[in-house]
Amino acid sequence: MTETDSVAVLTTKAKQMLGDTGSRLDVELLLGHCLGLTRTALLARSDQRLSPTQLTLFKAMLEQRRAGVPLAYLLNRQAFWTSEFKVTADTLIPRADTELLIATILERCTQPDCTLIDLGTGSGAIAVSIAKERPHWTVIGTDQCSRALNVAQDNGRNLSNLFWVQANWLDGFADARFDIIVANPPYIAPDDAHLPALRYEPRQALVAADGGLEDLKTIISQAKGRLTETGHLLLEHGYNQQSAVIDAMTALGWHSEGLRDLSGNPRAVIGQLGT
Ligand SMILES: C[S@@+](CC[C@H](N)C(=O)[O-])C[C@H]1O[C@@H](n2cnc3c(N)ncnc32)[C@H](O)[C@@H]1O
Repeated sequence: MTETDSVAVLTTKAKQMLGDTGSRLDVELLLGHCLGLTRTALLARSDQRLSPTQLTLFKAMLEQRRAGVPLAYLLNRQAFWTSEFKVTADTLIPRADTELLIATILERCTQPDCTLIDLGTGSGAIAVSIAKERPHWTVIGTDQCSRALNVAQDNGRNLSNLFWVQANWLDGFADARFDIIVANPPYIAPDDAHLPALRYEPRQALVAADGGLEDLKTIISQAKGRLTETGHLLLEHGYNQQSAVIDAMTALGWHSEGLRDLSGNPRAVIGQLGT
């Protein structure tokens, strides 16, 4: 690859270089990033050439992509629900599966006033999305990781109904009562075969003891005393954990229902304590 190569030529060469580790879309987004152009603008300028600095940056990013660094970390952004979220190595990359939690809350919780807490907010994907959709609700996002909370804060700037607290799950909220507690906690077992493929994401965002269930169980237990009478607990879990989550909730007196994501996989459980 040289500075005399046009965007069109670089795209083809880079795609060949990536092979199966990246798509043509990845290449176009990386090129757009280096040139400061949207993808549409890039496609309209296929004859443009990169400056030496832009080419050096592009080659470096391409090498990282080839090594398996997720595109979202190279671009420092990921689309989720209706917004683009800043992401860094301190935050999980928000997944489309998690949009099930947003859709469920918006569909089932129609009250005009509501206090919602998003535990383990990471980039703030859930908290920010709900705060934007429901400007009259009060939304709190928490995380034990202060660097993740800084990213979430960036993503939620200008939203006056959104608050951030550094906390270990619901510790420190003994006197609070929430209408909705939502969480997408770490739920991958420490020996899960998928973990190597997720090596660039923070381990504390992914892995939980007890076969991946420890954090889910902690939240199920703590949430009992932190909900209003008609309040809801909504938890994302692994595709093979739904019956274990429902059993853990039933054992503590919750009435719960399993939910499936858009691909049809068991993905979340919603529960209430009342009848
Ligand atoms: C699976 S990620 C979810 C991030 C974000 N909610 C999302 O859906 O994209 C789990 C998050 O929980 C946080 N976390 C892990 N252990 C925690 C704890 N004991 N208390 C609070 N947050 C915790 C991690 O830092 C991480 O941001």
